[in-house]
Amino acid sequence: MEKTFLMIKPDGVQRNLIGPIVSRLENKGFKIVGAKLMQVSEDLAKTHYQEHAEKPFFGELVDFITSGPVFAMVLEGENVISTARLVVGSTNPQEAAPGTIRGDFGLTVGKNIIHGSDSPESAEREIGLFFDKAEILDYNLINKDWIY
Ligand code: TYD
Ligand code: MG
Repeated sequence: MEKTFLMIKPDGVQRNLIGPIVSRLENKGFKIVGAKLMQVSEDLAKTHYQEHAEKPFFGELVDFITSGPVFAMVLEGENVISTARLVVGSTNPQEAAPGTIRGDFGLTVGKNIIHGSDSPESAEREIGLFFDKAEILDYNLINKDWIY
């Protein structure tokens, strides 16, 4: 099953949006197979965003993403990479559609609440950067006897 990497950025964590955001992702039908609150190091931030190294906003982006804890997740589901990007919304929250996470919770491009992998290649790379293999669980949701 396809997997993707999502990360609630420091602004989302500081604004107490972990719960509402995770709730949307669960409601959509994605399965959480890995999740943790963590501090991103400068090295990890630079590697994660290496495609933007030459952009004028790179320094601010690295400063922001390392400014406080993030909530990192691995989600699993059919077509989860592109579908999670739809749920996340456009990069600039001022253009992101209402109903998307960025559209509903964000206001500026520099602080746009959440990251989501944009392709199978970046999903694999980013999951590997943020998670050890043992932190990603393989489990089934078939035993629901205890839900009543
Ligand atoms: P990008 O990969 O283009 O967007 P996305 O997160 O939707 O994949 O950019 C990475 C992050 O860089 C983006 O989430 C916010 C930040 N950013 C800026 O601060 N200014 C900008 O002009 C752009 C394009 C991005
Ligand atoms: Mg991107």
